[in-house]
Amino acid sequence: MNKKITPGKLREMKEEGEKITMITAYDYPSAKVLERTEIDSVLVGDSVGNTVLGYENTMPVTMEEMIRHTKAVSRELERPLLIADMPFLSYQTSVEDAVRNAGRFIKETGAQAVKVEGGSEFFDQIRRIIDAGVPVLGHLGLTPQRIHQFGGYQPRGRTVEEAKKIYDDAQKLEEVGVFGLVLESIPKELGRKVTEKTDIPTIGIGAGPHCDGQVLVFHDLLGWTEFSPKFLKKYADLISTIEEAVNGYIEEVKSVDFPTSEHSYEMDEEILKELMDYLD
Ligand code: KIV
Repeated sequence: MNKKITPGKLREMKEEGEKITMITAYDYPSAKVLERTEIDSVLVGDSVGNTVLGYENTMPVTMEEMIRHTKAVSRELERPLLIADMPFLSYQTSVEDAVRNAGRFIKETGAQAVKVEGGSEFFDQIRRIIDAGVPVLGHLGLTPQRIHQFGGYQPRGRTVEEAKKIYDDAQKLEEVGVFGLVLESIPKELGRKVTEKTDIPTIGIGAGPHCDGQVLVFHDLLGWTEFSPKFLKKYADLISTIEEAVNGYIEEVKSVDFPTSEHSYEMDEEILKELMDYLD
């Protein structure tokens, strides 16, 4: 039997030079498929907001929504490490809120770790969550909970000042005790430096090939969104597949090619005869 992946296992993989795979998921059927694959880790991202719930960005996502989606994934997921994303205002407000909300994920959902966006601004919160016994995955670079401040989704770390802050925050987050770091939308050279200069695994999304692992959003890599940033590779085209299937269904219902007798129940002949006698 395949053993449960732990945060410690991801660190071992970095040490051994084995690349780490991570993907997001938000529901039970996706988790069921992922459990059949060799994926190392699943993140219930607050990207559920824009990919599944139809929000414009991740900001409106609530703790209750994150708890519901994490529980749905957790019902099926056994082997991969399951990480829940701390949504906007679940940790920024105070250390107490941060510990309580991180604890809720562990207590109520079956997640083994949480992810927290941000660097020096949130060291206190991150330290206290870890002190409470909850493993934390950090997240630096383009942190979508700050898009209003950033003015959009452009890559980060392209000025010396910003690159230094990302690099310094990565070192400090390692000291604080995070078990890994998501690096989002930063130049590959910076991704490489952070990866080389930390002992914890870096998981890139738009951070180049030198990171210890990669993460992509489930719906993006399956071509189930129209999102097409430079860093994304689509491994399927589900929008076309679903559209074709639904159009096929519509056509066949209209032309009465569906359902055929293959998809219809039949009545036992004797019962049918009795019924016909009665109806006549
Ligand atoms: O919310 C999310 O899905 C994420 C990943 C893109 C890392 O933060």
